[in-house]
Amino acid sequence: MRLSQTLFGVDFQNPVLLAAGTCGFGEELQDTLDLDALGGIVTKSVTLEPRAGNPAPRLVEAGNAMLNSVGLANPGLERVCAEKLPWMKEHLSRIQVLLSVAGHTPEEYWRIVEGLESVGGFLGYELNLSCPNDTRLGGVPFALDPDALTRVVQGAQDLTDRPLLVKLAPNVPDIGPIAEAAEEAGANGITLVNTMPGLVIDIASGSATLGAGSGGLSGPALRAVGVHAVHRARAHTSIPLVGVGGVSAAEDAIQYLMAGASLVQIGTATFADPRTAQRVARDIARYGEKMGIEKIEDLIGTYQAEHRPVPVSEAR
Ligand code: FUM
Repeated sequence: MRLSQTLFGVDFQNPVLLAAGTCGFGEELQDTLDLDALGGIVTKSVTLEPRAGNPAPRLVEAGNAMLNSVGLANPGLERVCAEKLPWMKEHLSRIQVLLSVAGHTPEEYWRIVEGLESVGGFLGYELNLSCPNDTRLGGVPFALDPDALTRVVQGAQDLTDRPLLVKLAPNVPDIGPIAEAAEEAGANGITLVNTMPGLVIDIASGSATLGAGSGGLSGPALRAVGVHAVHRARAHTSIPLVGVGGVSAAEDAIQYLMAGASLVQIGTATFADPRTAQRVARDIARYGEKMGIEKIEDLIGTYQAEHRPVPVSEAR
């Protein structure tokens, strides 16, 4: 099966990317995996100022999941422009690079986009509007407030011709209308979903196991939530979707593709096996060959929600 596809005007050699916050800026994983074998990467979120991050421990187990509160640790805009972008330009020319951007205010997002634009050398942006560990000044994450989301996206669109994706949060009653608001605001793509807010308490000490208290839940427990979010967003929008949450095998990625995602991201699973993304891409191709599917586009969005009416006799 052909895995490559054209999206956002460029070629993705396969549909598997590494998720924001799990691969640094690529350089950190260059000795561990073959970055050229990926569809692309999404960097750690870039903030205006450098962030040291939250107190340890930043990652803990939470049943069939992981809970994190890293606190957006990153070198900040200035050093990303001076050190990270030049490295990525030189070493990541075969794969697609999206820069994740996070801020406390709309103006912070816009200043970061402006700064990154002045250097260039990457495909586009994934606006992180949904970090559960670092809320916007005076409010809930932007992704939980369609008006706030619209303001950030419209302002960022005015500053760039590059594709602009927005990353949404799972903890909303219905993600469909939020995805619609993102498209109407000018987003070129939507990533679904960020982690789910969670808390693990050590009952011996009565304290939270994470240094920061609560955090964001990821891993297998998030997968069905993510697939459902992609399915809902697909029903409300026509722009490309990117599925993330609980992908560790081709079977997981294929669910996202069937629900309507054009690309998938691997996050938590990379911590256990850094070569997960390569394996998932290879096994998607094997699945396609087994099923007689010629190209990845023929798999995307093939899930149709079934309407199963309850027979009248059973409903009574
Ligand atoms: O704490 C963190 O850095 C997490 C970021 C996110 O989930 O967006």
